Amino acid sequence: MDRFAIRGGVPLCGEVAASGSKNSSLALIAASLLTDQPFELSNVPRVRDVDTFVRILETLGLAAQWKTGDRLALAGGMPASHEAPYDLVRTMRASFMVLGPLVARCGRARVSLPGGCAIGARPVDQHLRGLEALGAKVRLSGGYVEAQAERLRGTRFEFDMRTVNGTQNVLMAACLAEGTTLLENAAVEPEVGELIDVLTGMGARISGRDTDRLEIQGVPELSSVDHRVAGDRIEAGTLLIGAAITGGDATVTGVRPADLDAVLSKLRETGLEVTATDDSIRVRRSGPVTGTHVATAPFPGFPTDMQAQMMALLCTAQGGSMLSETIFENRFMHVSELRRLGADITVDGRTAFIQGVSELTGAPVMATDLRASASLVLAGLAARGETHINRVYHIDRGYERLEEKLQALGGRIRREKV
Ligand code: EPU
Repeated sequence: MDRFAIRGGVPLCGEVAASGSKNSSLALIAASLLTDQPFELSNVPRVRDVDTFVRILETLGLAAQWKTGDRLALAGGMPASHEAPYDLVRTMRASFMVLGPLVARCGRARVSLPGGCAIGARPVDQHLRGLEALGAKVRLSGGYVEAQAERLRGTRFEFDMRTVNGTQNVLMAACLAEGTTLLENAAVEPEVGELIDVLTGMGARISGRDTDRLEIQGVPELSSVDHRVAGDRIEAGTLLIGAAITGGDATVTGVRPADLDAVLSKLRETGLEVTATDDSIRVRRSGPVTGTHVATAPFPGFPTDMQAQMMALLCTAQGGSMLSETIFENRFMHVSELRRLGADITVDGRTAFIQGVSELTGAPVMATDLRASASLVLAGLAARGETHINRVYHIDRGYERLEEKLQALGGRIRREKV
């Protein structure tokens, strides 16, 4: 098992490129199930979750091949199997997104229920209700969701809450349904917008991009696509907070600043200098960072996927901060580990109160989920002395060569086998 050994205290400076978005890539790989034709994606990050999704496609009988570097070629074709097994789905909830495309394409699907995860219960009721509204017969049997429909039918469906993967799952299914579907209270995250662009490029008829009301006119089939995945806004935000927390000056290229607007505004509010071009963002710290209040919210609000990293920064800010998590019920697993590094944090329900300390000190800590682990890396880079982060496999699920990018910015971090 790998761990990171970090010697903190070096300001991160320089320029580094963002990888392609993990979460966009996962939805787009699921979309390849909707067509018989070749489907190519470039700028796909080589992270473990992407590998898992590729394995799921292979289990469904579809070929996938990595071409040069970050280009993934998916063969398209009729899935030979319509079953996504427990062993794969339990390791990555996003794989549940094969459900909608499989029913739309094959008329039936059998997909394992994902179960709970480290950040909360994360039910999938909205995915199922949306598919039922489209006419699928859904039943649960032996831990699996079985869904069937000869041909899905257009409908009007309103989500009870903004769900990113739920919107993507139902949207993909609706593209091949007969007639018009209206999806209301749809998620508007950039990853939904990117999926809409790709589906539209394949011949789907969707209006309402960037709004919570999507209208989809079903078509009988979709064609091939060749798409470059957008930069990973969460990876970019993580690296930029790395510059902020260490007192550095870093630029991340290959990312759209508008996708990170809420994070950039908060960083400015804490006293950091933030500048942006069309496709790059620079964060420079020339003085103290001051405490602030943050509440996570669906896009365009502050992303839950940046909450842990922001908390790491606020641990070293001047004064007190308040950070509320409104999306997931159990996303404070990093708090006890940050405390091991000397942070002063108390939690009341879904709100954390952070009193800034003048210095964090290195310690062995344990990664619990992807973004929690990222916050520990950031805190370790700022801490005096050495920090060891165990269970780095959580980071490898969603960050491509994180330690190499941090090294390129001057960070003293190494991967060790233990
Ligand atoms: N929810 C339900 N029922 C549903 C679906 C969602 O109650 O059927 C609830 C969830 O439990 C949660 C809220 O709705 O409380 C929002 O969850 P959402 O469905 O939007 O999350 P997701 O689509 O499963 C994606 C990202 C997450 C990110 C969230 C929120 C992917 C693969 N995952 O998950 O990313 O935190 O949206 O933005 O796109 C990560 O990258 O570390 C990560 C966890």
